[in-house]
Amino acid sequence: MKTSAWILNLIKNMKGAFLLSFLLLMLEAGTNLATTGLQKWLIDDVLIKGQYDQLFKVVSLFAAAFISYAVLYTLSPYVMQRNELILIARIQEKLLYTLQSIPFSEYRKKQTTKYVHYFNNDALLIADVLAAQIPKAIQSLVTAVSLTLIIGYISPVLLVIVLWLSISYYVASKKMGLKTKVISREVQDRKTELLVHIEEGIASTREVVAYHRRSWESAIYNGLFEKYFKVVMQEGKLQNKISFISEPLKWGTNIAVIGYGAYAAMHEQISLGVFVIMYQFSFQLVTNYQQLFDIVIQLYNRKALFERVREVLDLEPEAEGQEALPVPIDEVCFEQVTFTYEEDTKPVLRQVNLRIPRGRKVALVGSSGSGKSTIAQLMLRLQVPDEGTIRVNQVELDSIKRSEWLNRLSVVPQEPYFFPETIRTNLILGLSEVSDHHLQKVLEMTRVDDLIRDLPNGLDTVIGERGMTLSGGQRQRLAIARALLKDPEILILDEATSALDTETEYFIQKMLDLHRAGRTTIMIAHRLSTIVNADIIYVMENGRVVEQGTHDELMKGNTVYKRLFTAQVMNNQNEMVSIP
Ligand SMILES: Nc1ncnc2c1ncn2[C@@H]1O[C@H](COP(=O)(O)OP(=O)(O)OP(=O)(O)O)[C@@H](O)[C@H]1O
Ligand SMILES: [Mg+2]
Repeated sequence: MKTSAWILNLIKNMKGAFLLSFLLLMLEAGTNLATTGLQKWLIDDVLIKGQYDQLFKVVSLFAAAFISYAVLYTLSPYVMQRNELILIARIQEKLLYTLQSIPFSEYRKKQTTKYVHYFNNDALLIADVLAAQIPKAIQSLVTAVSLTLIIGYISPVLLVIVLWLSISYYVASKKMGLKTKVISREVQDRKTELLVHIEEGIASTREVVAYHRRSWESAIYNGLFEKYFKVVMQEGKLQNKISFISEPLKWGTNIAVIGYGAYAAMHEQISLGVFVIMYQFSFQLVTNYQQLFDIVIQLYNRKALFERVREVLDLEPEAEGQEALPVPIDEVCFEQVTFTYEEDTKPVLRQVNLRIPRGRKVALVGSSGSGKSTIAQLMLRLQVPDEGTIRVNQVELDSIKRSEWLNRLSVVPQEPYFFPETIRTNLILGLSEVSDHHLQKVLEMTRVDDLIRDLPNGLDTVIGERGMTLSGGQRQRLAIARALLKDPEILILDEATSALDTETEYFIQKMLDLHRAGRTTIMIAHRLSTIVNADIIYVMENGRVVEQGTHDELMKGNTVYKRLFTAQVMNNQNEMVSIP
């Protein structure tokens, strides 16, 4: 889509509001011109020719023009600001929607704070260009054309002088404008860099304090601020230079008009009234040209923002899939799945074959980094296989409607995210129908009921950002409860009980086995004691499935599984022995 088409699409349904702001600005400019024009009438006809009977009329018209100007002057910013706010909301909503529908892999290309900067900087500046700067540019243009015609009519010589001075200003400021474009881009980039650092600095407070790195952190901040400061000062200097050029333009015009006007008035080529308004009109014309040029240069500078935001908005959304989800889900199969996170790096999964039959407990075990969580990501469709396919009852997973699939699947991730909201909000997470009975049952199964009993506001206790006010084990219990509330057909638990004490882990495992009997559960676990009763255990190593079978089958012979299991048992025994 071209930028112009994109803008038109953005201001869809707002044409009336935009027209209104143009109209108000035009009327504002018109009344402003009228107040100056009326002075000629007052001076030439009323004062010089002595037509005192017209005084009341002239004064009334002055009053009407001033009142209209005052009303319009307050009304037009209001309408423009309203348009601007609506546009900001639209751009931000589009950005959020796009970011939530693009492939997950796109996120790795930028830091999250950079995306945040698009929301609270770029969106605001774009809305300002469309709702305020462009209408003001049109107002200046129309006023400048009207003034050019009026001055040209009064005195062509004067018009030539004013035009010549204005063109010189334009040429000089354009040259500077090109330099400011480079610097203002630099200012934006340095500002983003600084903001990114500040946000990350706040997020990493715990680590910085724990590792005594405050002075190291301050040094980085100071370095970044210095760079930012330098470019801002450079930008300021350039702007001062532009003002330095614009001032002589104003003096030049003043001197030319006073000299030429006084000469023409003395020789009675123009009346005194014309001399007065000519002086004011030419001054207004110069000011208008300046405004117009400044806006044009600013628009030119902000073009980059439009491109930056459109680059994000133009990202292809992930395919949603059209096929209905087969009911019930009899089996999910990975067929020769190979997957790589980054191009030109070695695959994280290699020709993986898995069969996850309905109602079974399937376990994925293996060393750290062997690719277990990646399998959960592929199941969630956050990533897509490079080769091979994932099938649900023979239907390719990618072709199934995403929403239907995700409604039937719950994942407890290794590092669950929590909103800084109440426990209830974090558990329900927008689910529309959750009965109190079901909620209570899930709270008991996951021992979250024990947790909330000790909290002053129970379920309505607000937990800190990312659940910081909870312990690791408490967070895991909440995450399991959240997944179970959905009553999913397939449940994936990725190291979901690793931070729990043995007794609680055993209790929750028993509850899960009991309540999810006949439902598909995939367990990713390091503690093998939690999966010994699984129907199928897949053992992974370096992105490959190296063994599969039940616990008893895998304990026969010299298997990787047996080695892992024996090592854990030995370890546990040693720990038991070392406890006095
Ligand atoms: N977002 C990512 N971008 C790039 N590489 C990644 C990403 N996530 C994981 N990896 C890499 O993929 C490999 C498999 O990671 P994965 O998280 O699937 O391992 P895992 O078996 O779950 O390990 P663990 O038991 O430690 O949780 C690792 O080598 C890891 O470095
Ligand atoms: Mg993992």
